[in-house]
Amino acid sequence: MTDVSSMGPGPGDERPVLTNRQGHPVYDNQNQRTVGPRGPATLENYQFLEKISHFDRERIPERVVHARGATAYGYFEATGYLGDEPISRYTRAKLFQEAGKRTDLAIRFSTVIGGRDSSEAARDPRGFAVKFYTEDGNWDLVGNNLAVFFIRDAIKFPDVIHALKPDPVTFRQEPNRIFDFMSQTPEAMHMLVNLFSPRGIPADYRHQQGFGVNTYKWVNDRGETHLVKYHWMPKQGVRSMTAADAAAVQANDLGHATKDLRDAIDRGDYPEWDLLVQIMTDEEHPELDFDPLDDTKVWPENEFPARKVGTMVLNRNVQNNFAENEQISFGTGVLVDGLDFSDDKMLVGRTFSYSDTQRYRVGPNYLQLPVNQAKNANVRTNQRDGQMTYFVDGAGENPHVNYEPSITGGLREAQYPSHDDQGPTITGRLTRKRIPRTNDYKQAGQRFRLMEQWERDDLVLNFVTMLSQCERPIQERMVWHFLLVEDELGLRVGEGLGIAPEDVAHLEPLASQDLTDEDRDRLSRLG
Ligand code: HEM
Repeated sequence: MTDVSSMGPGPGDERPVLTNRQGHPVYDNQNQRTVGPRGPATLENYQFLEKISHFDRERIPERVVHARGATAYGYFEATGYLGDEPISRYTRAKLFQEAGKRTDLAIRFSTVIGGRDSSEAARDPRGFAVKFYTEDGNWDLVGNNLAVFFIRDAIKFPDVIHALKPDPVTFRQEPNRIFDFMSQTPEAMHMLVNLFSPRGIPADYRHQQGFGVNTYKWVNDRGETHLVKYHWMPKQGVRSMTAADAAAVQANDLGHATKDLRDAIDRGDYPEWDLLVQIMTDEEHPELDFDPLDDTKVWPENEFPARKVGTMVLNRNVQNNFAENEQISFGTGVLVDGLDFSDDKMLVGRTFSYSDTQRYRVGPNYLQLPVNQAKNANVRTNQRDGQMTYFVDGAGENPHVNYEPSITGGLREAQYPSHDDQGPTITGRLTRKRIPRTNDYKQAGQRFRLMEQWERDDLVLNFVTMLSQCERPIQERMVWHFLLVEDELGLRVGEGLGIAPEDVAHLEPLASQDLTDEDRDRLSRLG
């Protein structure tokens, strides 16, 4: 313990000296320079101005979504196999090839809607974003804890987020605004049935699943492509909270999940997740009653088994929240050789959005920050300068050449690993159209029927609590949707709101939706 009585400048004090960022020693950190002890203050006081103006800039814009989060580090260990098949049949991505191969990674868990200091016990999807630092460069797998999403086209993302975020006038999160939007968005029913069940409030970050949600592609060394969905399964098990559990937790602590993760890693109780994938041939699959590129759908596991490809272990905490958690930047466009995009209409929009927001939120040189650097690969670009340039990333032999092509010592293009085209041929006319197989209710109903009784009771209670704060036409439309999802759900939520099936029988389907024969059958039973 330092003896405070002996503190202060003096011959016996060995502690390092405080400086400003120019390296000048700070002789007095308690008093500004003033004309006489009572002022006025002088403006040439570099030390004070540097300190206060740096403080004025301590915050960067918080993420527009997923503002609150926690980051940790660890590694991924591959199995080398997909079930009993060598994984190379499906992907040539190096990190998956050999059994036991380890790749460094960082992960950021998050909530979505609340601000940077908001409650971690909110009913909200949880972000599950993993950055693999592979030798071929970084791969980001930016997922959520729920397997599906509210919408299937990126053009609707600002709307769904505006509806879920606080009211622009009152700055309160308003159920009426949320369900106004959802009642006009039938594809959201599957997500809502998940989000308002106990799964909508994970107990903490360690006891939750993760899902890539969007459909990606794998490419093998013959250029053959498969559609892929990713799933993370926690070895710690899955635990959730009811609304009452969550209220009790957040009464004491808004950051319980960050603390739980940090504490577990500090005591050596390293959390682990298995990574499993589902695979489909790269085609439209007309035999399915959903589109494999639709992120409001899951792929039935009996037809497309989820098979393990590796395990993630988290074994290190961040040393500084701002540098490593606030500034870490993930994106769906960050893929390595052997992994690719699909034509999922959400994924393409996401892929633009992430690096666009990061150039604004963190700055144009965000990829030079240590947490974002492709630290296990060689980064050599002709990109130069811009705010906060930290170094020249890997010039060629001749530092004068920051362009390509050049015969005077610049960088050259890489050679394609094995091919330069891949995947099926696609033709079509430019258009704006819904995908053909929307089938908005069936999987939501299946999910409801899989729930245990207490989960159904919790789901109904949560819907009734929220919808009782909404206007009647919104309540009616939601009951109408729920009756199409599953009789029990529609009847019970309706009962809680005083709305019988015959009260909603007059409602016409929305112009923005297509009904299946089964949906029409259900509708005909309403009135
Ligand atoms: C964060 C856009 C859908 C998962 C973000 C951010 C943006 C964004 C702008 C903030 C990034 C930053 O500031 O660094 C979008 C758009 C979407 C979409 C435009 C739809 C078109 C999704 C979906 C998922 C998801 C479907 C889940 C699969 C995440 C996660 C983060 C995030 C986990 C936080 C990453 C972190 O921890 O830094 N998204 N998003 N997003 N998004 Fe999305």
